[in-house]
Amino acid sequence: MEQLRDTKLTPNLTVLLYGPPGTGKTSLTRGFAKKYDIPICIVESDRLVSPLLGDTIKNIRGVVELSAEIAKERGAFVLFFDEIDAIGSERSNIHEVGEIKRAVISFLQVIDRVNYEGVPLAIFGATNHQHQLDSAIWRRFTFHFEFNFPNYHLRKLIIEAFVNKVKKAKIGVDDTIFSNLNDEYEEFQVSAKELQNKLGRNISEFDDSVLWDEITKRSKNEGLLKLTYGYSGSDIERGTKVALLKAISSERLTYEIFYSSMRLVGGTAIHVERQDVLSSSKIIANRTKASEKGRKNLPRPPEI
Ligand SMILES: Nc1ncnc2c1ncn2[C@@H]1O[C@H](COP(=O)(O)OP(=O)(O)OP(=O)(O)O)[C@@H](O)[C@H]1O
Ligand SMILES: [Mg+2]
Repeated sequence: MEQLRDTKLTPNLTVLLYGPPGTGKTSLTRGFAKKYDIPICIVESDRLVSPLLGDTIKNIRGVVELSAEIAKERGAFVLFFDEIDAIGSERSNIHEVGEIKRAVISFLQVIDRVNYEGVPLAIFGATNHQHQLDSAIWRRFTFHFEFNFPNYHLRKLIIEAFVNKVKKAKIGVDDTIFSNLNDEYEEFQVSAKELQNKLGRNISEFDDSVLWDEITKRSKNEGLLKLTYGYSGSDIERGTKVALLKAISSERLTYEIFYSSMRLVGGTAIHVERQDVLSSSKIIANRTKASEKGRKNLPRPPEI
């Protein structure tokens, strides 16, 4: 460590996670801390921000210095700034521009000091407003991980994981949920592979409306994978909770209950006003209706 310190290139774990809400940023950080058995402190960054002059800086310094102390004592510590854009962005509720700048500078300084001193403190930050994040804060993080809405492979796994949780709660689960999901997945796979061979490139459901055209040609059925296009992991969790409530009276979770509950909760993508998520998608462009002028570029699930 001494040698590394002399090079002024001390490695440090500073990780910025960014992407739409409900895609697993907080869960991943918690999971990381749990996996390596490292204590973690999750800070809701907006709670550090104070309208009182100087208080924001004091709060930021306080939390980082305290974490650094614990890290030294315990050998490792994870400090997680959730919604980090609350510090020093237009969204923050500090109204005095000078104070925003001072808060950002103070944040950078404490991080630099911790890094320089080689304190075993991992600093994670998460945001779903990455464009509003001060670029100096962005650069301070060594690693940047982008999160996005899950593709159909991942949606299948997430749905199965949640349905298996319901099973554990000793609620009867109809096998048709799994078998219909598998059948639909196979259809997706066959369509994607055929197109891949024909076009000679990888196919993404987010960028290629051709995949949806092919799937629609093959099957008129509305399955769970189609329905949950543009859903986050969190949306699927919400849908499962609704389904569980509906299934409690009959003590049986059927495919119909599960499907209608998923439909009821809806996906985040259509609510999130973000130009970057899925906006390059031809599907979205093709399917965005002219009547939705004000909501132009909103990611929309395909109407299949
Ligand atoms: N990829 C995933 N796999 C399984 N579950 C997921 C996934 N993504 C999200 N979830 C579920 O959604 C819930 C919420 O996710 P989480 O809070 O980590 O999202 P987030 O990206 O931090 O959202 P926000 O930006 O709103 O803070 C989790 O508790 C988890 O159950
Ligand atoms: Mg979060």
